[in-house]
Amino acid sequence: MSKYPDEQNILRDPRWEVTEAARRIQQALTRMGLCYETKDGHLVEVSYSRIGVVGDQYGLLEVDLQRLPRKVTVNKLAHRDTLHHLTAVVGKPVKKLNTTGLTYCVVLSPEPKGRLPKRVELDVDSRPPGEYMIPIGQGCQGAVWRSLLDTSHILVGGESRSGKSTWLNCLLAALLNVYGTDRLNVAIIDPKGVEFTAYAGIPHLVVPIAEEPKQAGEVTDWLMGEMNRRRRLFTGYFAKNLMTYNSRADKPLPLIVTVIDEVTDIALQCGLRSRFYTNLIRLASKAGSFGIILVLATQNPKAEVLNTLIKGNLSTRIAFRVATPEHSRTILGVSGAEKLSREIRGRMLARLDAELVELQGFLVNDAQIMALAERLGSRLTKPPLEPVERDLVAYAVEHLGGGFKIGELARAFAGDERTSAWHIRKLAERWEQEGLLTKPAHATAPRMVTPRLLSLLTR
Ligand SMILES: Nc1ncnc2c1ncn2[C@@H]1O[C@H](COP(=O)(O)OP(=O)(O)OP(=O)(O)O)[C@@H](O)[C@H]1O
Ligand SMILES: [Mg+2]
Repeated sequence: MSKYPDEQNILRDPRWEVTEAARRIQQALTRMGLCYETKDGHLVEVSYSRIGVVGDQYGLLEVDLQRLPRKVTVNKLAHRDTLHHLTAVVGKPVKKLNTTGLTYCVVLSPEPKGRLPKRVELDVDSRPPGEYMIPIGQGCQGAVWRSLLDTSHILVGGESRSGKSTWLNCLLAALLNVYGTDRLNVAIIDPKGVEFTAYAGIPHLVVPIAEEPKQAGEVTDWLMGEMNRRRRLFTGYFAKNLMTYNSRADKPLPLIVTVIDEVTDIALQCGLRSRFYTNLIRLASKAGSFGIILVLATQNPKAEVLNTLIKGNLSTRIAFRVATPEHSRTILGVSGAEKLSREIRGRMLARLDAELVELQGFLVNDAQIMALAERLGSRLTKPPLEPVERDLVAYAVEHLGGGFKIGELARAFAGDERTSAWHIRKLAERWEQEGLLTKPAHATAPRMVTPRLLSLLTR
């Protein structure tokens, strides 16, 4: 994992690097007196007519000779001592290009070893050992995972369609894939009402997914109640965190992951004096030690909502591309996320353990999530089969080689009006549409029972 010790080195984008060099060179020349102050106090500095990058290795800064400050000459600007000084200021070799006019040539940093991929599917099996590990992203040297016990509360920011919800989905998928309801509970607030629908009805949810501000307030009420209940329980065991409590108590408590998407919008809708917002501040400051972890995402990182009361307690920060340096500062504490490429969705700067790293977020597709939710028993997925449906499927598998033969089934189940040929045909057509039966191979062939239908039989 690469380290970025200061803001200047956050991104190795050559365009950004050369603009930064241009700014520093201009400042340095001014400080060396290579500028001119007009009588009315206006400062005329050396300026550029063109700034460009050649092959990602060199930055070219063409000095605008038409607008040279008075008394400043090309000889002075290209003097060996000046170049020497500029090299020191920029921190990279600055030379004069041998062309007419004056063009500074800045040697840019070499490419970092290993490039980040532009797209990585989440590989749940690459999960390193450890409790409550969540995938953060792919770095130059491999996948970066962290334990929620270490990250504590998380703030995720980024402009629209930058990859926030996808990241939250990866986090949920990775955890739900491993932990049952005895170890993990989930609360979700999703004002858009589209990002987490697959999880509606999974048994891990402590309360139904909230979409309205009022419901959001109720979720935080529930969490406050649970936090206070846990506070009393913990006191009895002299426990200061969930792991200690669980190692001492007879009945362990699950970690509760609370995902709040578009948190700024709900906070503003509810109002900054609302129950939702005051609860949120209390939860951010105290809930972590009781095993209630907040994961807050926003495309609108307003400082008035994400004030120090909240942000101060969200120690892990993830910034996807943002619109302005201010937004980057609100999320990460430094600018830089506004320079992330808009084309590469899921690219992020992550502040982990007080270290800033650039990573490519993982991608998890809808099919994976649906399969997971189905396994967990989401309401959206197929409800269990009716007894009569079970009998039909069982008969087709045992006596008809898996063929859902309408005539034969109707004969076998004759006498029951729910299993008339007409009813069975309707059922077969519906199941075919739902992908539970295959399409008939030819006009007279039967539809076949799929493994998915079979799995519903065993549920
Ligand atoms: N890590 C990723 N790798 C590749 N593509 C991604 C990644 N994350 C997101 N995308 C793509 O970008 C699209 C938008 O992502 P997502 O819905 O997560 O953005 P968002 O930040 O939640 O947007 P909004 O603020 O509008 O809710 C996704 O549909 C997906 O196609
Ligand atoms: Mg989203």
